Amino acid sequence: MCGIIAYTGHRPAIPVIVEGLKKLEYRGYDSAGLAFALSEQIHLYRASGKLEALEDRLTSPIIMQPTSGIGHTRWATHGLPNEQNAHPHLDSSGSLALVHNGIIENFQELREELIKEGHQFNSETDTEVLVHLIAKGLQKMSSFPEAISWALSQIEGSYAFALISKDYPGKIWAARQASPLLLGVGTGENFVASDIPAFLQYTKDVVFLEDGELVEMDANSWQVYSVDSLKPVDKQVQHIAWDVQAAQKGGFKHFMLKEIFEQPRVIRDCLAGRIDRKKEQVILTELDDLPVPRRLHIVACGTSYHAGLWAKYLLEKWAHIPVEVEIASEFRYRHLVLNPDELVLAISQSGETADTLAGIRLAKEKGIKVIGLCNVVGSTVARESDRVIYTQAGPEISVASTKAMCSQLVLLYLLTLYWGQRQKVLPLDVLSKSIHTFSSLPDILETELPRLREKAAALSQEYAAARSFFFLGRGINYPLALEGALKLKEISYIHAEGYAAGEMKHGPIALIDPNFPTFALALNDELLPKVKSNLKEVEARGGKIIALTHPQTDLKVDHPWELPLLWGPLNSFMVLPALQLFAYEMAVYLGKDVDQPRNLAKSVTVE
Ligand code: G6P
Repeated sequence: MCGIIAYTGHRPAIPVIVEGLKKLEYRGYDSAGLAFALSEQIHLYRASGKLEALEDRLTSPIIMQPTSGIGHTRWATHGLPNEQNAHPHLDSSGSLALVHNGIIENFQELREELIKEGHQFNSETDTEVLVHLIAKGLQKMSSFPEAISWALSQIEGSYAFALISKDYPGKIWAARQASPLLLGVGTGENFVASDIPAFLQYTKDVVFLEDGELVEMDANSWQVYSVDSLKPVDKQVQHIAWDVQAAQKGGFKHFMLKEIFEQPRVIRDCLAGRIDRKKEQVILTELDDLPVPRRLHIVACGTSYHAGLWAKYLLEKWAHIPVEVEIASEFRYRHLVLNPDELVLAISQSGETADTLAGIRLAKEKGIKVIGLCNVVGSTVARESDRVIYTQAGPEISVASTKAMCSQLVLLYLLTLYWGQRQKVLPLDVLSKSIHTFSSLPDILETELPRLREKAAALSQEYAAARSFFFLGRGINYPLALEGALKLKEISYIHAEGYAAGEMKHGPIALIDPNFPTFALALNDELLPKVKSNLKEVEARGGKIIALTHPQTDLKVDHPWELPLLWGPLNSFMVLPALQLFAYEMAVYLGKDVDQPRNLAKSVTVE
């Protein structure tokens, strides 16, 4: 994963880089570093731990002098997260400094070869070979682009990197292959970064770099080349509409909390322009020229995968489309039988998840069309999919995904209605009931959220000593149970397993005792009697139960948590924030780092 930023312009570069790294910390935060060229020397600052540790070292007055430089925040893949392995890395002569995101798969053999030739290595990282290779290239070739192109031809794997040289202060070179990288174009200043928020406060003019592209830039100019041929590539500058406010905490203690509370707005935005009330039709013009698939393969990871599982229930019921939902890291290595009349739907908040991207590429190789459902405009998923539906949740900063899932569910719901209508199988009252409920949902949710939070906070105190939790649900609530468990383990580090409630008796129930609580989704739907029986089984083993439920379900458990009753599957939009807030309050109560939980990263651009 890792986040990289490079700046060249007229401002003191280091504050710009440090601010940029703060915005990229969601990509990794186990160590950080930066480098700049000044007085014919590379100056290097690195520290293990969070960014503050690096900031503490930036005390010399020299820090305010450079107007260009590179920075990095790391998520360790090769080598411990210590100072020595933190980026930037230098070549043997200390002339070049490089920051990298990705994995160089053949680094071991390259490293051995370079060591034999006299190169000195100082870290355990795969990255370091790249800067040495470029230095080697510079001995044979006259220009930086040539040397970089040669070095990259030796490498197998993925990269996005930025490079500076002590001999050319103000110049930056950067390239990408299978890891995200964008160019921010300003006036008298230019940026390269892994993600837009890193430079959003300075410019909204962005050039999306493609795999195999290399950029050479200084404060006043930039040029993109093909890495292989070194021919210039014409690139469009795109103006993006994100606002800086949306990427700030806005008075909330954590980004996660802010993002949970943004969900009413997210629902409104996702619905805007998507329903023609007069014609009683769902508008998804992006898909109008694609036939309704005979079978749909949903491919995603993490929370996005749970959104896909949720949609399966709806798509099968209301659009009569057989759906397979698969974790992308499995999908990509299966011997898939895909038919031309099928479609792949790739769901990804970031649009950069390596496994999901591999799934897209695999489908395309097999001649299957791909729809991307993603949040980040211009991301790789968006660009590589045949059609893209944007979820419009706005930037999601907290590592644990919340509002993005909400937006995915809205769009997946609309997709079901849309294909159900096209198939002429959508039950008559479903559209009008959906429209009706959706129109009041954001307001109801807005009122409910503070109450949900209060209840979650009370429960978190009661259950903070638990070491394990089951999350149980059936039907459409089963994927939500999986998500509830994922949220809890991600941010509170309490072990949690999501289970289909009916499957408990086939093994997991052996774990139940008074110290192993269950969080049940026992809503007032057609499966309630079944869920009730499953909970009886838990109760009989002395297990404590919290249950999200509705009034008049007559549910007798330790902690019933009543939600207002909505129509049909739209109840999920109340269940989801309740689960998110339970995990959130639990993590806060236990004093965990909510927005940046240990070992995780928001955008997983490695396999
Ligand atoms: C990471 C994040 C998860 C996210 C998953 C998929 O593991 O920590 O929160 O659900 O990636 O990300 P995507 O951007 O593809 O939805």
